[in-house]
Formats: sequence, C-alpha cells, structure tokens
Amino acid sequence: MSKIQIVEVGPRDGFQNLKDYIPVEQKLKVIEDLIGAGIKSIQHTSFVSPKAIPQLKDAKELTSILLEKYPDYDFFALVPNLYGARSAYELGLRKVSYVVSLSVSHNKANINRTHEESLEELKTIIDTYKDLNVCVDVATTFGCPFEGKYTTGHVLKFLDRVANMGVKEMSLADTIGVANPKQVREIVSAAVKEFPEIEFQVHIHDTRNMGMVNTLVAIESGITKAQSTLGGLGGCPFAPGASGNTATEDLVFMLNDMGYETGIDVDKLIEAAKYEKSIITGNFSGHLVNIQKGQQCNI
Ligand code: COA
Ligand code: ZN
Repeated sequence: MSKIQIVEVGPRDGFQNLKDYIPVEQKLKVIEDLIGAGIKSIQHTSFVSPKAIPQLKDAKELTSILLEKYPDYDFFALVPNLYGARSAYELGLRKVSYVVSLSVSHNKANINRTHEESLEELKTIIDTYKDLNVCVDVATTFGCPFEGKYTTGHVLKFLDRVANMGVKEMSLADTIGVANPKQVREIVSAAVKEFPEIEFQVHIHDTRNMGMVNTLVAIESGITKAQSTLGGLGGCPFAPGASGNTATEDLVFMLNDMGYETGIDVDKLIEAAKYEKSIITGNFSGHLVNIQKGQQCNI
C-alpha cells in the first residue's frame, strides 16, 4: 500500500461558513492539534474580502503567528485574486491555492470574474511572485449548482488552459458534493493520464454521503494527496446547497485501516475533533467522535 498525504483544509473551508466568530487562539489550538496528530499540510485561512467571508478576517494575524511558530511547516492559504496573493506573500507565506471555477457562473458568483479575468490574474501572480508555490483549485469540477455536470472532455479542456500557465499542482473540487464514484474515476484517471507533469489532489464535499467513497476512488485512480476537513465541516457560501467536506478523522481511519501510510494518529485526531466540536455551533458531521472507547473493537 502506498503513502497518502492528507491535506487538511478545515481551518479555511470548514470555518468560512460558520457564523459565530472563532477567536484566533481557538483556531490556533485546532491547527496545533492537527499538527500534533501528524497532519503535514494545512490550508489555514484565506485572503479574501472580510465582507465576503467575515469569519476569516483574522487571516493576517493567524498567518503571522503560524509562520513565526512553525517556519518550516507546509501552511497555505486560499486566494481569489492578485490582492490576496500579494497579502499572503508580503506576510512571508510561500504557498497559496488560487481558486477558479470550471463553471463560468460559479466563478462569477464566487469571485466576480470571467475565466479570462481569473486566468489573466493567475498569470500575473505567477509572473510577479516567482518563488510562490501556486496550486490551482478548480472549483465545481464535478458539477455546478447553476450549470449542472460537465463532460470529461470539457473538464480536460479547462485543465489544459490552466496547465498551460505553468502550474504544477491542481486540486479538483467537488464543491457541492454531487460527484459519484464512476464520474470521479473517469475524470481523475483522465486528468492524471493527460497531465503527468501536474500533481493532482481532490477536494470532495460529502453533501450526499459520497465523500469517503469518492475520495477513495480518486486515490485508486492515481492521486496521492486528498483534502478533507476535521469534523467534516465545510461549504461555500456562494454555492447554494454546498455543505461539509469528507471528515479527516473518518478518512484517516479508513485509509490507515486499509494499510495506506498516512503518518497520522487517529486517536489524536479524534481528540482534536472533540475540541473543535466543543467550540463551534454548526455542521459537524464526523462519525468517529461518537464512538465510545469501549465500543471499538481495538482495530
Ligand atoms: N482580500 C481582502 N480584501 C479584498 C480582496 C482580498 N483578496 N480582494 C478585494 N478585496 C476588497 C477590496 O479592497 C474592496 O474593498 P472595499 O469594498 O472596502 O473597497 C472589495 O473587496 C471589492 O474589491 P474588488 O476588487 O472590486 O473585488 P471584486 O468584486 O472584483 O472581487 C472578491 C470580490 C473576490 C474579492 C470577493 O468576492 C471575495 O473575497 N470573495 C470570497 C470568495 C471566497 O472566499 N469563496 C469561498 C471559497 S471558494
Ligand atoms: Zn470546499
């Protein structure tokens, strides 16, 4: 069995939808618990308009604290535009995920840009910040609330436009959790085959209870990095119907038990999830926190 890297995106995707503000110290504790459990890469915030996402208005403060305390850790932040990339870069962050939707309508609703404008801005970011590692998050790859689903050919065509900009990493996102395993197999296998120079990962929402199976199928189709969120929090405020991601603790439990190497301690992750659950009011959907110690069969 091979190594799988779990990329935790809860502090961004999980928290962005929560109305009650979570103070920086509590965000920090969740992140430190995740690091302590063995998670090696965390999307800790986004540099977006605080009017659009009030929960993440502390992006600069949180980033500064994390970079100071953990200078070598793989933190990255979502950015929607040059403004966000500049803010992240000037604080010292050297990795961002740049979000652009395959759906023209969702791209407009989410970041108020056409494809051409988004890709033009991506080019400026890459040209301006040469040592900035940019992963492109392709939102709505598996379906859009406004436009429906796309053919694999249509997906590949858009990935080709992004790949031509010199990007090395892409995350294929099921923003509203409509993918099915057959579709994931087809799109992920085709992407991995068509673009061997790109490192792909998936970002799967669990809206229709298919998060685990879709993530597993993506892994079996050739990806070695998968995004998830502690407690299964998550959702995009600009995509009607979007809800939580695949829960990190559930996913890690499954992968470890199958013999994949994640390097993550599930018990520590469950403790992290319990703490997270105690500080939020919202769509916590992880399963493992509900299992009492004596009920486990010591696997
Ligand atoms: N960080 C902080 N503020 C930003 C910003 C950024 N990256 N980009 C723009 N802004 C601010 C501008 O300063 C301006 O502020 P003001 O109203 O106080 O003057 C305001 O946002 C609008 O700026 P403008 O350049 O006209 O933005 P826009 O309308 O072209 O783009 C976005 C809007 C993209 C900035 C905004 O919709 C956004 O941040 N969306 C969040 C998307 C998101 O996080 N979705 C969920 C994850 S996929
Ligand atoms: Zn998401």
